[in-house]
Parts: sequence; structure tokens; C-alpha cells
Amino acid sequence: LPVVVLISGNGSNLQALIDAERAGELPVELRAVVSSRGGAYGLERAAAAGIPTAVLRPKDYPDRERYDAALRDCLDRLNPGLVVLAGFMRILGDRFVAAFEGRLVNIHPSLLPAFRGLHTHERALAAGVAEHGCSVHYVIPELDAGPVIAQAAVAVEPDDTPQTLQQKVQAEEHRLYPLAVRWIAEGRVTMRDGRVWMDGQPL
Ligand code: GRF
Repeated sequence: LPVVVLISGNGSNLQALIDAERAGELPVELRAVVSSRGGAYGLERAAAAGIPTAVLRPKDYPDRERYDAALRDCLDRLNPGLVVLAGFMRILGDRFVAAFEGRLVNIHPSLLPAFRGLHTHERALAAGVAEHGCSVHYVIPELDAGPVIAQAAVAVEPDDTPQTLQQKVQAEEHRLYPLAVRWIAEGRVTMRDGRVWMDGQPL
């Protein structure tokens, strides 16, 4: 399965995908990495792994429509079977999402539907939840609201801070994302009628 990964920053989830592919645990071709930020460390990770990179900066476009159109052109040339959002800090417009429906996934640092949006670790602590975690989901136009493919939970301890919680959740992300992408690459997971299907059963 040809895959393009979209990033904006550190790229630790990209690294987890690279490592899984190299270990023979992920039957995908990491065809390119596209970043919305020129200085993203994930670009160095991609280069070190020999993966072609591109940078598309929002500030080089007058509005979101035009940014999304440029990103779409870029992706259409790369022709991925799956687009993987991995810390891509741009909200994609409805037309973009519709064009890639069923071929666009994201990882979000909470147990969705809890804590959509930003600052999830702070909000989980403030809410006093006993469990927190991460979710891999198909992307739909509504932010962080697409059907969930897989989740991993961590226990919230009394001495946790946003930083310790982030570390625990990210360790789970690095396990979960390659696994979920593998299921898609193997054809075990698909999105149909707005739902996730696994091994022929709706989740
Ligand atoms: C992850 O925590 C992910 O859940 C969120 O953005 C972060 C990206 O981290 N969407 P990295 O760039 O993969 O290290």
C-alpha cells in the first residue's frame, strides 16, 4: 500500500511507522512525507530513512481553500492509497476530506470521543479521569469526530503532569499507529457507510 505521511513537527509517530516498515511489520511503501513546517524535525527523520519530502507552508497561500488545493495536487501526484496524518497541525477543509474519504487517517491524543481538539493532556488531568490514551480514526469533515479504528489506554496516576501523561500516551501511539495502519494495509480494516469495518464486521 503506498502511503504518504503528513507532519508538522517532531515526527515521532512517523518514526514509529518507519521502524515498523523496516522491521517487516508494516506492508506499506512510505512514498513521501509532506510537512506544513520547513523546520519540522520529522523531515530529517524522513531524509535519514531515504523517504522523499516536500514542504507546503500555509503562509505561502492566501487562504485555506488554496492551501488545501495545493496539498491535494501534491498528493494526487504521489497517488497514495492511504494518507496518514501524524501530528499535522492544520485543519483540512471539507472538500479535501471528501476527496480522500476512506483513505485518510489521524491519531489523536485522547480516548475519543473525550477531549477532541487541543491540550488533551491538560484537559484530561483537569477533568480527573482515571484513564486517558490515544485513538486512531478515519478523518471526516467534523474535527476529531471520525469513526475510531483503535484505541490504547493508559492509567492516570495522582502524580501525573501533562508532560508525564504525554510521554505515556505517546509510547502507546508509537505502538498503536503502526498496528492500525497495518490492518488497513492488509485490507482487514475499511471505512464504509461512515463506519469502521474490521474483518467484515462493523466495529
Ligand atoms: C501526537 O501526540 C499526536 O497524537 C498528535 O500530534 C502529536 C504528534 O507527535 N496528533 P509527533 O510529531 O508524531 O511526535
